[in-house]
Amino acid sequence: MKVSVVGVGYVGLVAAACLAEGGNHVVCVDNDQKKIDDLNQGVIPIYEPGLTEIVKKNVEAGRLIFTTDLSEGVAKSLLVFIGVGTPSADDGSADISAVLAVAKDVARCMDGYRIVVTKSTVPVGTHKKVSDIISSYTEHPFDYVSNPEFLKEGSAVDDFLKPDRVIIGTTNPAVMEIMKQLYAPFMRKKSRMIFMDPASAEMAKYAANAMLATRITFMNELSGLCDELGADIEMVRHGIGSDGRIGSSFLFAGLGYGGSCFPKDVRALSFMGDGCGCEMTLAKAVQAANYKQQDRFAERVIEYYKNRPETTLAAWGLAFKARTDDVRESPALRCVNKFIAAGIKVKAYDPEAMETAVADIDGKVEMGENAYDILNGCDGLVIMTDWQEFRSPAFDDIKDKLNKAVIFDGRNLYEPPFVAKQGIEYHSIGRVS
Ligand code: UGA
Repeated sequence: MKVSVVGVGYVGLVAAACLAEGGNHVVCVDNDQKKIDDLNQGVIPIYEPGLTEIVKKNVEAGRLIFTTDLSEGVAKSLLVFIGVGTPSADDGSADISAVLAVAKDVARCMDGYRIVVTKSTVPVGTHKKVSDIISSYTEHPFDYVSNPEFLKEGSAVDDFLKPDRVIIGTTNPAVMEIMKQLYAPFMRKKSRMIFMDPASAEMAKYAANAMLATRITFMNELSGLCDELGADIEMVRHGIGSDGRIGSSFLFAGLGYGGSCFPKDVRALSFMGDGCGCEMTLAKAVQAANYKQQDRFAERVIEYYKNRPETTLAAWGLAFKARTDDVRESPALRCVNKFIAAGIKVKAYDPEAMETAVADIDGKVEMGENAYDILNGCDGLVIMTDWQEFRSPAFDDIKDKLNKAVIFDGRNLYEPPFVAKQGIEYHSIGRVS
């Protein structure tokens, strides 16, 4: 099939590359000339495992092209995907101005029937706004599909190529058939394609993210209670995760959730509720509790060192989670900024996110090239991102290099008795030490 995808962010670029991998001819469009030039040179603007390879392969096969020329994309495609960002506005709402601007430009380029598909996360009701804009800028017929994306950073390519489910928001049977064909190469036995009206598809996206954020936050609150009452959150996780009704994923307590999706989408859901007189009290509480969790961790560390002048800490991890260079709303950065505000010096290392973190912490934090080098002269190690390379470290080196052998682990990477045996004082999240 002939497809164009507008936007080369996580959602747009991954969708474009994967749709090409599925055998489609894809024109990927963005108005950022530099990004398009880079992509044409094989330089991928984001770190995402497997993405570089799949882009290169499909460009070489002639199935994937990058351009700033939207009219070229629209002219060559039956389906036009919108995959641009919908960041939080100051009031917490999702800013859909980029989506609406693209819809207008797409409409102006149309020379016949098109199916316009929104992949961006957009508030419920956006389908009407997009459809209205398209019909006011073109006389050509079109159909609209809401097709929210569920990929996770760090496993985005795999999530797209092997989806659990694909949600298609359209009530037009002919369009359903086209979407079925488009996704056929990616559907496995376990995958489900679920059809619904566009408003429900828009809502399902927010519901999924808010539900996951709520699970994590509940576990995080319980971890605080575990700390106070002497229970172990990991035992609790095993205990409840084995209940099929609850399920075992997204129950890991830690520093709190971050990233470009959960915080923004929980906020947007609250805003939607306020806007229609249906207050989302739980979503608001989740948001507040998530910040509290990050601050609780930072304050524990600050309290521990309060009587020690000139404290320097080594920080492992700046990204909001492992396998990404993304630091948007990263709990690690919030904590680092709190340490600095409390007069603590920080030396940091992250396998991928040091460049992206520079904008937030440049000049305030000394960055190291290596996880172990930064330990020298530090009064403790703080772990804030769950990178694989931090999971089984050389504890002897940690002990030897630190001035004081103490670890604050915001990701519960180790078993407390094992770390204690290494002669290291260990503080984790809601665990019995
Ligand atoms: C999330 C969703 O998982 C995707 O399904 C969705 O498509 C995406 O948002 C989006 O809307 O675009 P992502 O933000 O990439 O994906 O990251 P997650 O893996 O969901 O992690 C989000 C945050 O929760 C991270 O800070 C992570 O460390 C934290 N987390 C996750 C926990 O603290 N505990 C867990 O058990 C799981």
